[in-house]
Amino acid sequence: MNAFEQDSEGEDETVSIVTNDDVVRARQLVRTLAQRCKLSLVDQTKLVTAASELARNTLVYGGGGVMRARLVQRAGKSGVTAVFEDSGPGIPDVEQALTDGWTSGGGLGLGLSGARRLVDDFRLETEAGSGTRVAVTKWAR
Ligand SMILES: Nc1ncnc2c1ncn2[C@@H]1O[C@H](COP(=O)(O)OP(=O)(O)O)[C@@H](O)[C@H]1O
Ligand SMILES: [Mg+2]
Repeated sequence: MNAFEQDSEGEDETVSIVTNDDVVRARQLVRTLAQRCKLSLVDQTKLVTAASELARNTLVYGGGGVMRARLVQRAGKSGVTAVFEDSGPGIPDVEQALTDGWTSGGGLGLGLSGARRLVDDFRLETEAGSGTRVAVTKWAR
């Protein structure tokens, strides 16, 4: 069963995120899936922006990882789910990390909080010392 217990899903596509080029690839894959499930242009951009921020976090803070993305269906609606996973240090204080402007690394601190606002479903699971998993979904309306 997948992260959001959707009725059905397409095949997973996986991008390993180890370099900046991989962040671009992850972004392109999400764009392609968003177009395929007919998200509006605005929603495509929202999802791609969220994915881009999450992929960058996977690389920079997670020490690299993977993105898995797929088309999903629930109650007759189509969407795209993207899951970002790393085995890095984890996030000790999730509430703090989701606060606008908070960064541990000299960034803008708007990646996680922004991503959460830009998608329809946002799930963050993390454990100190064992890694972080963020799953996001955007539904076509
Ligand atoms: N995958 C991750 N692993 C560990 N820490 C993370 C991860 N993603 C985000 N964080 C933590 O959450 C903070 C906020 O992330 P974000 O909002 O994207 O801001 P920024 O990337 O500008 O620091 C980061 O500074 C970092 O401390
Ligand atoms: Mg960030």
